[in-house]
Amino acid sequence: MGNGIAQVAARAGFKVVMRDVAEEFLARGMAAIDKSLQRDVDKERLSADDKQSIIGRIRTTKELTELRAAFIVVEAVTEQLSVKSKVFEALDEVVQSDAILASNTSSISITKLGAITKRPDKVIGMHFMNPVPVMKLVEIIRGAATSDETYNAVHALTEKLGKIPLECHDSPGFISNRVLMPMINEAIFALYEGVASRESIDGIMKLGMNHPMGPLTLADFIGLDVCLAIMNVLHDGFNDSKYRPCPLLKRYVDAGWLGRKSGRGFYEY
Ligand code: CAA
Repeated sequence: MGNGIAQVAARAGFKVVMRDVAEEFLARGMAAIDKSLQRDVDKERLSADDKQSIIGRIRTTKELTELRAAFIVVEAVTEQLSVKSKVFEALDEVVQSDAILASNTSSISITKLGAITKRPDKVIGMHFMNPVPVMKLVEIIRGAATSDETYNAVHALTEKLGKIPLECHDSPGFISNRVLMPMINEAIFALYEGVASRESIDGIMKLGMNHPMGPLTLADFIGLDVCLAIMNVLHDGFNDSKYRPCPLLKRYVDAGWLGRKSGRGFYEY
């Protein structure tokens, strides 16, 4: 999702530094941006020159220190508290003391991430949806210590990015995944119990509820590891068995069948 966030920020006119840990990931990110913008060029919604200008506003790096001058950093690393904590600790040392540290987390506590830093008032959730260039929503999550100043700045920034900010307090899964992920998990239980085929489950939800994708297709699109991580956050956070992840979801993740990104999930790609 990091490359999608970099793309919308650069398209809105901001200079962006996109950081990852390996050149190969940065190259993959830039290729995704190129492909996504090219769709708009092909549909004559963007000129080839403007596409090049947008790409020209994105600099890639492996060095965290290159983020030193940023007024905001949007973290989009893997959905594990231990990994995010290390990134927030390091960012807090590197970026200017008045910079905002936002997380694109889909379920991890913003309050916990804030408490790792010396600037909890400037830590906030900025939860984009996939695919970032297409989806209008950004769920803005206030941690216990997030200041109104930070909230207002991020709200205004989200609008500048052409997105719609909607506010939510810090609670496991926020709103989006508290509602979405149990539905996906239930679809996986239905498959696990043999109630219907994957095609029927997806077809029923797609045609019957007017969802753009069926829940199993959507799970593959999001990433099954991400779905499992979110279910675990809900399960641990609410301490309620209704959020127990389906054993089939766990088995697929154990097998490395993570959805579209690994070539196999509930479907083959
Ligand atoms: N970059 C730019 N444009 C893109 C794109 C991308 N990566 N992917 C799709 N598009 C554009 C297409 O160009 C097309 O544009 P126009 O209609 O204006 O010509 C439009 O999106 C629709 O694309 P397609 O016709 O190729 O395919 P589609 O109609 O099946 O739509 C979809 C694709 C937008 C992904 C749609 O299936 C959809 O909305 N799916 C559900 C997505 C969703 O639920 N996302 C949220 C996931 S949850 C999450 O992200 C948060 C979390 O914490 C887990």
